[in-house]
Amino acid sequence: MDKLVMTGGAPLKGEINIAGAKNAALPILCASLLTADPVELFNVPDLQDVRTMLKLLQQMGVTLEFPNPNDRSHLILQAGTISSPEAPYELVKTMRASILVLGPLLARMGRATVSLPGGCAIGARPVDQHIKGLKAMGASIQIRKGFIVAKIAEPNTRLQGNAILTDMITVTGTENLLMAACLAEGTTILENAAREPEVGDLAELLVKMGAKISGIGSDRLVIEGVPTLHGASHHVIADRIETGTFLCAVAATGGEIVLKNCRPDTLDAVLVKLKEAGLKMKKGADWISASMSGRPKPVSFRTSEYPAFPTDMQAQFMALNAIAGGSSRITETIFENRFMHVQELNRLGADISIEGNTAIVEGVDKLSGATVMATDLRASASLVIAGLAAQGETQVDRIYHLDRGYDRMEQKLTQLGANIRRMK
Ligand code: EPZ
Repeated sequence: MDKLVMTGGAPLKGEINIAGAKNAALPILCASLLTADPVELFNVPDLQDVRTMLKLLQQMGVTLEFPNPNDRSHLILQAGTISSPEAPYELVKTMRASILVLGPLLARMGRATVSLPGGCAIGARPVDQHIKGLKAMGASIQIRKGFIVAKIAEPNTRLQGNAILTDMITVTGTENLLMAACLAEGTTILENAAREPEVGDLAELLVKMGAKISGIGSDRLVIEGVPTLHGASHHVIADRIETGTFLCAVAATGGEIVLKNCRPDTLDAVLVKLKEAGLKMKKGADWISASMSGRPKPVSFRTSEYPAFPTDMQAQFMALNAIAGGSSRITETIFENRFMHVQELNRLGADISIEGNTAIVEGVDKLSGATVMATDLRASASLVIAGLAAQGETQVDRIYHLDRGYDRMEQKLTQLGANIRRMK
């Protein structure tokens, strides 16, 4: 298992490019199942989760081409024929986002067998809303031996549009139902829809493919089903969580960086809190420059659905609060177990306690390097940030978690002057 070894204390300086968003790319790859035509994508991030999804789609019979073999961000998918509308346990257990093939396969093929995604470190992660919505569109769904076995109840018919209100806001639930509704008969209304920018990016691609969607960016999506969709080409939106992660890093280490090819307008809630922490920022349409001098100020926040503070930035900001000049409170409202990084941060000398779904962070003057263990994707990023700010050497084990969602993070940090290296 790879690990990252770093020596803290170096301020970050320089500029890097932000990659395409993992949480946009994953549903967008699945959208290729909705048409027999080629779908051409640009700015796809080169991540473990993307490679896993591409493998899953190829196993189903989707062809994959990289027009320029040296550029894995540009690819063409074509689901001319789907030989096996299945998502096996071996792949789904490593990436729960595989559930995103369910809606498209049902809509295109009329049937699908998808392994139930297990839980993960941050929570049970049920998919009951995905199933409830697809049933409302005429799917009959059984759970058999850990698999979701789905088919359209009336043979040789299409899914039927319907009005669907999800019990809570669910990002991939919205995306699954949105993709299924594009090929359904009649109108589907998704109430309580997720408004994350990645949902909007998926919707933009679907409209380019001929889907009829209104309300994009709002919590009410109205989809007029069409019989078929055609191919399209699309540039995946920049990753707002990678952007926020590097901003938290420079706020923790001090220094001055420029992030290019990013989308500052998708990160408002995080930028407001970083400003409160003392980060100085300037921004344009696709760039942010950020500089930090002196100790961060403590900033309390609670996570919530977009456009509020994203849960995917909670662990990274906690690392910043760990060295702030004072105490702060962080409340996690989306996942029931997304504080796995707390005990690891405390191993680095942080002073954080948990009361229910709130972490109380007493800022300390200095963290001191130690060996810590990554438990989930964003917790890994939090430990890297803390290690870069700590005195001495920090080793982060199990960084396969990090590789799932960050495209060569240590190379980008090295480019910014950090003393960090990957060890086998
Ligand atoms: C997406 O997960 C993201 N993943 C997550 O990013 C992100 O943390 C999460 O949205 C919240 O923003 C992808 O987009 C691939 P949800 P998702 O359905 O869709 C409950 C990362 O770090 N729920 O919005 O699985 C659920 O348990 C990852 O990149 C149900 O109860 O999250 C949670 O408490 C981690 N039943 C809440 O809703 C359902 O059927 C929100 O979950 C669906 C969800």
